[in-house]
Amino acid sequence: MYKFVECIDAGSEYCPCHLAEKGECIICSQLQNKVFCDCLYWKGTCIYEELLKNGNKAKKTRQYKKCDIIAIEKIRDDLLIYDIRVSNSLLRELDNIGAYVFLKSPNFPDYFGTPISIMDINYEQQSIKLLIKIHGIKTKDIKDCNEKIMVKGPYWNGIQGQRFLRNLKDKSVLILGRGVAAAPGVLVTRRLTLNNNKIIALLDKGRSDKNICTDYYTKYGAEVNNLSIINYKDKTLTDDFKKYIKDILEKENIDVVLAAGDDEFNSLIINYIHVRRTDICFASVNNSIMCCGEGICGSCIVKLSGKEIRSCKQQYNPLEYYYVEDGK
Ligand code: FES
Repeated sequence: MYKFVECIDAGSEYCPCHLAEKGECIICSQLQNKVFCDCLYWKGTCIYEELLKNGNKAKKTRQYKKCDIIAIEKIRDDLLIYDIRVSNSLLRELDNIGAYVFLKSPNFPDYFGTPISIMDINYEQQSIKLLIKIHGIKTKDIKDCNEKIMVKGPYWNGIQGQRFLRNLKDKSVLILGRGVAAAPGVLVTRRLTLNNNKIIALLDKGRSDKNICTDYYTKYGAEVNNLSIINYKDKTLTDDFKKYIKDILEKENIDVVLAAGDDEFNSLIINYIHVRRTDICFASVNNSIMCCGEGICGSCIVKLSGKEIRSCKQQYNPLEYYYVEDGK
């Protein structure tokens, strides 16, 4: 299967990064200690030249900034929506598919930072909206923040398979989401509907009483159906879902499917749809454990075709990642 060689930061103001400085650049062969020039993914700038121009040093990395919390909506004790005011430039950078930030409270060290996807943005308020599930030390730290919070960004690799979503125009995209993982799909919907794409969303509320994201999807014009998609007890897709998907694949000309659930969910739906329609491309939310977000710590590494992929920076093809031989 075709393997992507694409760094989400290549050509941005954060490129070249420390990987290039240490001879581990994802894209540039010269900065992998090879002697020939064989740039694998051109993003408009020569990373090698940029590094030389910068005195063989990485560009300045993202820094935490203290931001105001505008509102906190409590959905449940362990489920909160934060509205955070950010600078205008950061807001614009975050209005992109797959955008996320690291959050932490002002009183704790940087290793408390946890990555959270942008669900929605508001230019009038100059704010980002994030749906946060409280389930560990880092997110409990966020829950303690009521007025101020530290925000570091922008990061963009929250969605894999972005090449299938970028520049889509007048196409149809199906988003299959479950619980909190469906939140990044809202921003995808926002971006895609700007280019007259049709969005159909099937949303599973997960363990919540209702689908928290539904109103946000409909706000941006998606056709939303709320249903149960997966039986977690026996790890199968529900009959209801199979009926919906049969109808959609018959009636709609779906170009791309975005899988927005946990790995089990993504794997089940991608394989189910792939055996029925091999021409559909897949994107998925990135469920890797991220610590640094800069390609350094290795916590997000996944193995594909025998190669290690730093999934915080590098894009991969979700079909390749989730594909199983006997996908039913
Ligand atoms: S999160 Fe540290 S290398 Fe990806």
